[in-house]
Amino acid sequence: VTTPPPGDVGCILVAAGSGGRLGADRPKAFVELAGRTLLEHATSRVLGGGLVGTVVVVVPADLVGRLPERPGRRVVAGGADRRASVAAGLAALPDGIAVVLVHDVARCLAPTSLVGEVIAALRRGHRAVVPGLPVADTIKQVDGRGFVAGTVDRSSLRAVQTPQGFDRELLARAHAAPPGVPPVTDDAGLVERLGEPVLVIPGHRLAFKITTPDDLAHAGWLLAPA
Ligand code: C5P
Repeated sequence: VTTPPPGDVGCILVAAGSGGRLGADRPKAFVELAGRTLLEHATSRVLGGGLVGTVVVVVPADLVGRLPERPGRRVVAGGADRRASVAAGLAALPDGIAVVLVHDVARCLAPTSLVGEVIAALRRGHRAVVPGLPVADTIKQVDGRGFVAGTVDRSSLRAVQTPQGFDRELLARAHAAPPGVPPVTDDAGLVERLGEPVLVIPGHRLAFKITTPDDLAHAGWLLAPA
Protein backbone atom coordinates (compact mmCIF):
# COMPACT_ATOMS: atom_id res chain seq x y z
CA VAL A 1 0.00 0.00 0.00
CA THR A 2 1.45 3.36 -0.96
CA THR A 3 1.14 6.41 1.27
CA PRO A 4 -1.99 8.30 0.27
CA PRO A 5 -1.67 12.07 -0.05
CA PRO A 6 -4.37 13.99 1.92
CA GLY A 7 -6.53 14.45 -1.18
CA ASP A 8 -6.90 10.69 -1.32
CA VAL A 9 -8.56 10.41 2.08
CA GLY A 10 -12.35 10.66 2.28
CA CYS A 11 -14.68 10.46 5.26
CA ILE A 12 -18.24 9.18 5.25
CA LEU A 13 -20.02 10.89 8.11
CA VAL A 14 -23.17 8.92 8.89
CA ALA A 15 -25.87 11.13 10.27
CA ALA A 16 -29.06 9.57 8.91
CA GLY A 17 -30.35 8.01 12.12
CA SER A 18 -33.54 9.35 13.62
CA GLY A 19 -31.91 9.93 16.99
CA GLY A 20 -35.12 8.79 18.68
CA ARG A 21 -33.40 7.85 21.94
CA LEU A 22 -32.12 11.41 22.29
CA GLY A 23 -35.72 12.64 22.57
CA ALA A 24 -34.95 15.75 20.48
CA ASP A 25 -37.34 17.48 18.08
CA ARG A 26 -34.95 17.00 15.14
CA PRO A 27 -32.50 14.41 13.80
CA LYS A 28 -29.40 14.03 15.90
CA ALA A 29 -27.08 15.65 13.38
CA PHE A 30 -28.96 18.94 13.77
CA VAL A 31 -29.18 18.92 17.56
CA GLU A 32 -27.14 21.74 19.12
CA LEU A 33 -24.32 21.35 21.59
CA ALA A 34 -22.56 24.47 22.92
CA GLY A 35 -23.90 26.56 20.04
CA ARG A 36 -23.03 24.26 17.15
CA THR A 37 -24.78 21.23 15.69
CA LEU A 38 -23.39 17.75 16.31
CA LEU A 39 -22.67 17.61 12.57
CA GLU A 40 -20.61 20.82 12.76
CA HIS A 41 -18.67 19.48 15.74
CA ALA A 42 -17.92 16.22 13.93
CA THR A 43 -17.01 17.89 10.63
CA SER A 44 -14.63 20.42 12.17
CA ARG A 45 -12.77 17.69 14.08
CA VAL A 46 -12.52 15.43 11.03
CA LEU A 47 -11.21 18.24 8.82
CA GLY A 48 -9.15 19.96 11.52
CA GLY A 49 -5.89 18.15 10.86
CA GLY A 50 -5.91 18.85 7.13
CA LEU A 51 -5.62 15.10 6.48
CA VAL A 52 -9.07 14.52 4.99
CA GLY A 53 -9.86 15.97 1.58
CA THR A 54 -13.51 15.03 1.10
CA VAL A 55 -16.42 14.52 3.48
CA VAL A 56 -19.61 12.78 2.37
CA VAL A 57 -22.37 13.63 4.83
CA VAL A 58 -25.21 11.09 4.92
CA VAL A 59 -28.42 12.61 6.27
CA PRO A 60 -32.15 11.71 6.33
CA ALA A 61 -33.60 12.09 2.81
CA ASP A 62 -35.86 15.03 3.71
CA LEU A 63 -32.89 17.03 5.00
CA VAL A 64 -30.53 16.70 2.04
CA GLY A 65 -31.49 20.15 0.76
CA ARG A 66 -30.79 21.76 4.11
CA LEU A 67 -27.03 21.33 3.85
CA PRO A 68 -25.41 23.14 0.96
CA GLU A 69 -22.68 21.27 -0.88
CA ARG A 70 -19.29 22.97 -0.70
CA PRO A 71 -15.94 22.15 -2.23
CA GLY A 72 -14.85 18.98 -0.43
CA ARG A 73 -18.33 18.23 0.92
CA ARG A 74 -21.03 16.09 -0.63
CA VAL A 75 -24.43 15.52 0.93
CA VAL A 76 -26.48 12.38 0.22
CA ALA A 77 -29.60 10.66 1.56
CA GLY A 78 -29.18 7.76 3.96
CA GLY A 79 -30.87 4.38 4.01
CA ALA A 80 -33.05 2.27 6.28
CA ASP A 81 -30.20 1.22 8.54
CA ARG A 82 -26.63 2.27 9.26
CA ARG A 83 -25.19 -0.17 6.77
CA ALA A 84 -27.36 1.22 3.95
CA SER A 85 -26.38 4.75 4.93
CA VAL A 86 -22.67 3.90 4.74
CA ALA A 87 -23.25 2.24 1.35
CA ALA A 88 -24.92 5.44 0.09
CA GLY A 89 -21.90 7.41 1.26
CA LEU A 90 -19.51 5.00 -0.43
CA ALA A 91 -21.38 5.37 -3.72
CA ALA A 92 -20.97 9.15 -3.53
CA LEU A 93 -17.21 9.18 -2.90
CA PRO A 94 -15.36 10.83 -5.75
CA ASP A 95 -12.85 8.93 -7.86
CA GLY A 96 -9.33 9.24 -6.56
CA ILE A 97 -10.20 8.52 -2.94
CA ALA A 98 -8.11 5.51 -1.90
CA VAL A 99 -8.66 5.55 1.84
CA VAL A 100 -12.02 5.94 3.58
CA LEU A 101 -12.92 6.78 7.13
CA VAL A 102 -16.42 5.95 8.36
CA HIS A 103 -17.48 8.06 11.31
CA ASP A 104 -20.70 8.35 13.32
CA VAL A 105 -21.88 11.92 13.80
CA ALA A 106 -23.07 10.64 17.18
CA ARG A 107 -19.35 10.47 18.14
CA CYS A 108 -18.91 14.13 17.27
CA LEU A 109 -16.31 14.88 19.97
CA ALA A 110 -13.83 12.30 18.65
CA PRO A 111 -10.70 14.46 18.45
CA THR A 112 -8.66 15.35 15.38
CA SER A 113 -5.74 13.46 16.96
CA LEU A 114 -7.72 10.20 16.80
CA VAL A 115 -8.54 10.83 13.12
CA GLY A 116 -4.82 11.29 12.54
CA GLU A 117 -3.91 8.08 14.36
CA VAL A 118 -6.35 6.02 12.28
CA ILE A 119 -4.96 7.52 9.07
CA ALA A 120 -1.38 6.97 10.26
CA ALA A 121 -2.08 3.26 10.80
CA LEU A 122 -3.56 3.04 7.29
CA ARG A 123 -0.42 4.69 5.96
CA ARG A 124 1.65 2.04 7.66
CA GLY A 125 -0.07 -0.44 5.36
CA HIS A 126 -3.02 -1.71 7.42
CA ARG A 127 -6.19 -1.97 5.36
CA ALA A 128 -8.73 -1.86 8.20
CA VAL A 129 -8.17 0.08 11.42
CA VAL A 130 -10.53 0.70 14.34
CA PRO A 131 -10.05 2.60 17.59
CA GLY A 132 -11.03 0.68 20.73
CA LEU A 133 -10.85 1.07 24.49
CA PRO A 134 -10.38 -1.65 27.11
CA VAL A 135 -13.60 -2.54 28.90
CA ALA A 136 -13.64 -1.28 32.50
CA ASP A 137 -16.71 -3.17 33.69
CA THR A 138 -16.92 -6.90 34.31
CA ILE A 139 -19.07 -8.33 31.53
CA LYS A 140 -21.55 -11.15 32.24
CA GLN A 141 -23.69 -13.19 29.92
CA VAL A 142 -27.24 -13.47 31.25
CA ASP A 143 -29.80 -16.18 30.52
CA GLY A 144 -33.46 -15.61 29.62
CA ARG A 145 -34.47 -15.70 33.31
CA GLY A 146 -31.98 -13.03 34.37
CA PHE A 147 -29.36 -15.36 35.90
CA VAL A 148 -25.68 -15.20 35.10
CA ALA A 149 -24.73 -17.75 32.48
CA GLY A 150 -21.06 -16.87 32.40
CA THR A 151 -18.42 -14.24 32.95
CA VAL A 152 -16.39 -13.12 29.97
CA ASP A 153 -12.63 -12.60 30.31
CA ARG A 154 -12.50 -8.87 29.77
CA SER A 155 -8.75 -8.66 29.21
CA SER A 156 -9.16 -9.31 25.47
CA LEU A 157 -12.28 -7.16 25.03
CA ARG A 158 -12.30 -3.73 23.39
CA ALA A 159 -15.23 -1.34 23.02
CA VAL A 160 -14.74 -0.06 19.50
CA GLN A 161 -15.45 3.43 18.26
CA THR A 162 -15.32 5.47 15.10
CA PRO A 163 -13.69 6.82 12.95
CA GLN A 164 -12.90 3.43 11.46
CA GLY A 165 -10.51 3.53 8.51
CA PHE A 166 -10.32 1.29 5.44
CA ASP A 167 -8.71 0.80 2.13
CA ARG A 168 -11.53 1.87 -0.19
CA GLU A 169 -11.52 -1.29 -2.29
CA LEU A 170 -11.73 -3.48 0.81
CA LEU A 171 -14.62 -1.50 2.30
CA ALA A 172 -16.53 -1.59 -1.00
CA ARG A 173 -16.02 -5.36 -1.22
CA ALA A 174 -17.17 -5.79 2.39
CA HIS A 175 -20.34 -3.81 1.70
CA ALA A 176 -21.05 -5.75 -1.48
CA ALA A 177 -21.15 -9.07 0.42
CA PRO A 178 -24.59 -10.42 1.37
CA PRO A 179 -25.86 -9.31 4.80
CA GLY A 180 -25.13 -12.03 7.32
CA VAL A 181 -26.85 -13.10 10.53
CA PRO A 182 -26.76 -11.52 13.06
CA PRO A 183 -26.46 -8.13 11.35
CA VAL A 184 -23.16 -6.41 12.03
CA THR A 185 -23.21 -3.05 13.80
CA ASP A 186 -20.02 -1.56 12.43
CA ASP A 187 -18.03 -1.54 9.20
CA ALA A 188 -15.14 -3.51 10.65
CA GLY A 189 -17.62 -6.33 11.24
CA LEU A 190 -18.23 -6.56 7.49
CA VAL A 191 -14.50 -6.70 6.83
CA GLU A 192 -14.10 -9.42 9.49
CA ARG A 193 -16.67 -11.52 7.62
CA LEU A 194 -14.37 -11.44 4.60
CA GLY A 195 -11.68 -12.95 6.81
CA GLU A 196 -9.49 -9.87 6.46
CA PRO A 197 -7.43 -8.58 9.42
CA VAL A 198 -8.66 -5.54 11.33
CA LEU A 199 -6.14 -3.65 13.48
CA VAL A 200 -7.36 -2.16 16.78
CA ILE A 201 -5.52 0.96 17.90
CA PRO A 202 -6.07 2.81 21.21
CA GLY A 203 -9.37 4.67 21.20
CA HIS A 204 -10.18 7.95 22.94
CA ARG A 205 -12.65 8.68 25.72
CA LEU A 206 -13.96 11.71 23.79
CA ALA A 207 -15.05 9.40 20.97
CA PHE A 208 -18.02 8.21 23.06
CA LYS A 209 -21.41 7.94 21.34
CA ILE A 210 -24.08 10.50 22.14
CA THR A 211 -27.22 8.39 22.34
CA THR A 212 -29.35 9.59 25.28
CA PRO A 213 -30.14 13.03 26.77
CA ASP A 214 -27.63 12.20 29.54
CA ASP A 215 -24.89 11.70 26.94
CA LEU A 216 -25.73 15.08 25.41
CA ALA A 217 -25.58 16.75 28.82
CA HIS A 218 -22.23 15.05 29.49
CA ALA A 219 -20.88 16.36 26.17
CA GLY A 220 -22.09 19.85 27.11
CA TRP A 221 -20.21 19.71 30.42
CA LEU A 222 -17.05 18.64 28.64
CA LEU A 223 -17.29 21.67 26.34
CA ALA A 224 -18.31 24.17 29.01
CA PRO A 225 -15.79 26.92 29.66
CA ALA A 226 -13.90 26.43 32.93
O1 C5P B 1 -28.16 3.54 15.60
P1 C5P B 1 -26.73 3.73 15.92
O2 C5P B 1 -26.53 4.44 17.23
O3 C5P B 1 -25.85 2.52 15.77
O4 C5P B 1 -26.23 4.77 14.83
C1 C5P B 1 -24.87 5.07 14.67
C2 C5P B 1 -24.72 6.11 13.59
O5 C5P B 1 -25.29 5.64 12.38
C3 C5P B 1 -25.38 7.45 13.92
O6 C5P B 1 -24.45 8.50 13.64
C4 C5P B 1 -26.58 7.48 13.00
O7 C5P B 1 -26.91 8.78 12.56
C5 C5P B 1 -26.13 6.62 11.83
N1 C5P B 1 -27.27 6.00 11.13
C6 C5P B 1 -27.46 6.31 9.78
N2 C5P B 1 -28.53 5.76 9.10
C7 C5P B 1 -29.39 4.95 9.72
C8 C5P B 1 -29.19 4.62 11.09
C9 C5P B 1 -28.12 5.15 11.77
O8 C5P B 1 -26.70 7.09 9.20
N3 C5P B 1 -30.43 4.48 9.02
